[in-house]
Amino acid sequence: MVESHRWIWAWFGDSELAETTPVPDTHWMDDPDWDRVTHTRLMGCNSGLLHDNLLDLTHESFLHTSTIGDDAVFENGVTIEVEDNIVSVDRFMPGCYPSPLFAKVTNAEVVDRWHTTEFQLPSVHVIHAGVVEPGGRREDGYRFEVLNAITPAKQGQAWYFYAFCRNFEVGNEEMNEVLTESQGTVLDEDAWALEHQ
Ligand SMILES: [Fe+2]
Repeated sequence: MVESHRWIWAWFGDSELAETTPVPDTHWMDDPDWDRVTHTRLMGCNSGLLHDNLLDLTHESFLHTSTIGDDAVFENGVTIEVEDNIVSVDRFMPGCYPSPLFAKVTNAEVVDRWHTTEFQLPSVHVIHAGVVEPGGRREDGYRFEVLNAITPAKQGQAWYFYAFCRNFEVGNEEMNEVLTESQGTVLDEDAWALEHQ
């Protein structure tokens, strides 16, 4: 068992076979420069469908239209990189309007947007996302680090541990309430689609 940055990682197999490599980095969970909201869901689908969902965020354009999705997502392609046990899928969306949720929480107008899914096999996806003024550097923008840990439960079910971390409006409880509700909506929409799949 390893406890790290408010997450607990358990190995249920033979203790002699337990990995000694570090657990995934989740430092945004207790970094004072960041704030976050969390959700935990038992999803009515096999874990593989959740991995597909997180690796192909194109679905945001069609499924999450009131929050994180709009046409800019499907209109811009992705770049895929594979290195060791990490698959990265990056989408850069230059010179567009922020999504409905980003517009609401950042007051941003025309921006460069990005989201990058970093799948750390076999079970963790960290999505690096954000908006910045056109031509700006990603590190200077409004940033989100979205943590997704998928644990198979049984045939047809998977646990989904989720955290939506941000580098702005830290300590703003009203913002926490807005984001808890909006990200709950996002997860409800994913749950609906994945159960139907
Ligand atoms: Fe989704």
